[in-house]
Amino acid sequence: MAKDKCVLAYSGGLDTSVCIKWLMDEKDLDVIAVVGEVGQEHQGLEQIRDRALKVGAVECRIVDMREEFVNEYCTKALAANAKYENKYPLLSALSRPIISKHLVDIAHETGAKYIAHGCTGKGNDQVRFETSIAALDPTIKIIAPVREWDLYTREDEMDWAAAHGVEVPATKKSPYSIDDNLWGRAIECGVLEDPWNLPPADIWTSTVNPEDAPDTPEIVELEFEGGIPCAVNGEKMTYHEAILKMNEIAGRNGFGRLDMIENRLIGVKSRECYELPGPLAIIKAHQALEYMCLEREVLHYKPTIEQAWATAVYNGQWFSPLKIAFDAFLESTQTCVTGTVRLKFYKGNCDVTGLKSPFSLYDESLATYGEGDTFDRNTAKGFIDCYDLPVKVWATNRRQQGLSE
Ligand code: ARG
Repeated sequence: MAKDKCVLAYSGGLDTSVCIKWLMDEKDLDVIAVVGEVGQEHQGLEQIRDRALKVGAVECRIVDMREEFVNEYCTKALAANAKYENKYPLLSALSRPIISKHLVDIAHETGAKYIAHGCTGKGNDQVRFETSIAALDPTIKIIAPVREWDLYTREDEMDWAAAHGVEVPATKKSPYSIDDNLWGRAIECGVLEDPWNLPPADIWTSTVNPEDAPDTPEIVELEFEGGIPCAVNGEKMTYHEAILKMNEIAGRNGFGRLDMIENRLIGVKSRECYELPGPLAIIKAHQALEYMCLEREVLHYKPTIEQAWATAVYNGQWFSPLKIAFDAFLESTQTCVTGTVRLKFYKGNCDVTGLKSPFSLYDESLATYGEGDTFDRNTAKGFIDCYDLPVKVWATNRRQQGLSE
């Protein structure tokens, strides 16, 4: 009788390689390994596929998700200026839902009843995979081998691998846990677990040390159309290309590192280092342009939605109705976020030094204290009379009651 099938989110590393064999031996399943190409650093996808097949996967699919990731996920994240706890721009939290979507699609296509992932029981990523999968197809059964098996250390895993004929990936294990995609890199564990320890220099790969950055500032013009980057220094490009270009520029100027404590959904605080030179610069420029182009009440209300959006996405709610409703609000704010932002990079800093937009709501004739003033100051008097009326009534009453000096 044919075996049941399980679609596995596969990275090519030790954990998910052992997962393949474990699903075969312990659960008697045929494993379809799926590698999501989301712009991560890797040593060759063909090599990863070979490894999966060698361990025993019946099939290994490599899915290039980059364009969809940029156009669906990074676009929405930028509309939300997304930063969890006002700091972390959600890189891992953005990739798990897109990978989940493809896992579910492949499960449907192949008739697999199960989906497996290699997350531990302590992080957010397990929640993101499982909540996303549940939202897309609540009938699919999820298996989390790393949470279930009793292999506690890397050595336990290697022993198990050796005993079960699994060739251990030749890649040297990093002392850190790293997750990356084209939006950025997350680095955890090892010496970073003590928040008093300085991050070792070798954790950073896309930014130079700000102290070693050039001694002259670099000026960049970043252009947006409908809230999306469309040109750098006058050269038209796609959002994807703009992310890569801004990574280069910001990275060589030492901008884009974060070192922070973060509150995981499962209740644990963790120390995290992140590196997102391009995205952090793009978000900064985007936000500045919004100050110029969004009407005041929208601009003031938007951060409430942005924070709720970031929390929802951090917590794995990408496909939830609340997050989808937030997207509708955010999307409607972006049509007029068109214009050019001048950025100045200098030794780890990125400053906005100029803004222009055909949708600018900044009106110099209203703002000026000089010639050509069009603001009717007579309207101010009547406005203030109404505006301060409640406080006037209150203050008068306080005095009548002898409550105020
Ligand atoms: N703390 C971040 C988050 O929850 C990064 C997680 C990185 N994942 C990893 N497997 N190293 O989004």
